[in-house]
Amino acid sequence: MNTKDLRELFTTYFQKNGHAIISSASLIPENDPTVLFTTAGMHPLVPYLMGESHPSGARLTDVQKCIRTGDIDEVGDKWHLTFFEMLGNWSLNDYWKKEAIQWSFEFLTNQLNIPINKLAVTVFEGDSDAPFDSEAYELWKNVGMPEESIFKYNKKENWWGPAGQTGPCGPDTEMFYITDVEKCSPECQPSCSCGKYVEIWNDVFMEYFKDKEGKYNKAERHNVDTGMGLERTVAILGSMSDVYQVDTMWPIVEKIEEISGKKYLESDEITKSMRIIADHLRATVMIMGDNRGVGPSNIDQGYVVRKLIRRAIRHGRKLGIEQNFCKEISQVVLNIFGEVYVEIEKNKQVVFDLLEKEEEKFKKTLEQGLKEFAKMSSDNKITGKEAFNLFTTYGFPLEMTQELAIEGGMDFDIREFEEEFKKHQDLSRSGAEQKFKGGLADTSIETTRLHTATHLLHAALRKVLGDHVEQKGSNITAERLRFDFSHPDKMTDEQKKQVEDLVNSAIVNKYPVSFQEMTVDEAKEKGAIGLFEDRYADKVKVYIVGDTNQKPNADANSETFSMEICGGPHVENTKELGEFKIKKEEASSAGIRRIKAILQQKTT
Ligand code: ALA
Repeated sequence: MNTKDLRELFTTYFQKNGHAIISSASLIPENDPTVLFTTAGMHPLVPYLMGESHPSGARLTDVQKCIRTGDIDEVGDKWHLTFFEMLGNWSLNDYWKKEAIQWSFEFLTNQLNIPINKLAVTVFEGDSDAPFDSEAYELWKNVGMPEESIFKYNKKENWWGPAGQTGPCGPDTEMFYITDVEKCSPECQPSCSCGKYVEIWNDVFMEYFKDKEGKYNKAERHNVDTGMGLERTVAILGSMSDVYQVDTMWPIVEKIEEISGKKYLESDEITKSMRIIADHLRATVMIMGDNRGVGPSNIDQGYVVRKLIRRAIRHGRKLGIEQNFCKEISQVVLNIFGEVYVEIEKNKQVVFDLLEKEEEKFKKTLEQGLKEFAKMSSDNKITGKEAFNLFTTYGFPLEMTQELAIEGGMDFDIREFEEEFKKHQDLSRSGAEQKFKGGLADTSIETTRLHTATHLLHAALRKVLGDHVEQKGSNITAERLRFDFSHPDKMTDEQKKQVEDLVNSAIVNKYPVSFQEMTVDEAKEKGAIGLFEDRYADKVKVYIVGDTNQKPNADANSETFSMEICGGPHVENTKELGEFKIKKEEASSAGIRRIKAILQQKTT
């Protein structure tokens, strides 16, 4: 079965069961500024899941184009993709768990003819937010799943959503295909990532709503949201050992083989590079060719596009491809998807032009950067200062310096680079770098104070308004800080006063400001906030205001006021800050508010 067959089989099966077939929405969300891309079939349907009536009725099915940037670093393995297609069926306050599980089971075993002994399912085991999903458990037993194939997991594994900061969500039940890969251990289960169990479908029972305070409230409506990975399912049905052998991917791999003169399975390294090129350029073409298409730039979606293209080119070089090749690959992607998603055929000239321009630009950067790298590393090491020069003078990406240093077995200390970065003020003020620098225009004592105050403000806003508050931009001059953050409403005077009071209480409490280095995962685990995606390094600096041994908000008496990923610099103690005052609170763009604030010297 190829992808075309499965798209048709899935949607017509659900059509027969009363569902209307709707078309894929754009990859760039129209109404949700908190996320860059559409990550799931339910995402464009949020208003309808919330109660608005859908013109096509209460039962829907579709094939949705999706991008998941969180998986970019996993790409290169057998199953993860940046762009993928999600098959889905929805009940908008219509049918419930019984029908959903019945149809999922029937589709897998009758339509796709997967034997029951090749399937495993998981259900939510329950916690203080929501009880054990005994209904789903019993329903799976009733349709014929043996008990030993039904696994119970916690929220980390068996809860889905919301897609943005707030919204519908709930316990889910996931369906796994059991591959022929050897069990990695006797305890190996669906939650294991060894490759034995491949998740192919997920039924979410959206009976909760996560609010701005992060609370899960029982919703008045019951929605079903399901998602089946098209590429994965085609691959397992065809007994393929990875997703790259499906028909919407394999011609791209073949083209890369032809251009590079190498074979896909020649070596692990070659396989990995080919997968990265195929995945990244496929995703790039789909983003650029979308109706709301975006080209490479230094901000938001454009930054992701640039990163995808540049990584693809870098891996092309690893395969020995010296000439431009992105356009040739994009032509193959267009041939694959032109009929399914007509917009990319329509936008193909734009895709070609953007790709050619970006490849040319990056080629120059690379050539010069590689030459300089070779010179700088003749002593078999690369200093932070050298990496910094490569970055600022030649635009040579830090991740490439890191990769080359690792490949060459050289010493490279990322902290030295960060130190250099901090010292310099005259860097590009645009998007990605701006995020990296935390919006700092210079590193005078005034801006250092204001930068630390920004951390206090960020933490205070989350305490007063809720966990949906996220930094969307920051800009600091010697006189004032400016902070953009996600929040749907104008702040009331009372809220502004609460935020000011909280920040000033942190100043009066004379909290120490310190930092620890840890991996992004450890930072998340500790409850740190900040930009987790698209970081240039695995290790990050986490700045802590207050007690370093607790999680922020761990309890009401927690003395950890703020914990945030940041490059610094900061004052050593909050007592150095003066008095914090909000001067203005206004809209910045849809769903984003902007605060301007100052630090006044205390008059006492
Ligand atoms: N929205 C669910 C998912 O993405 C179905 O897994």
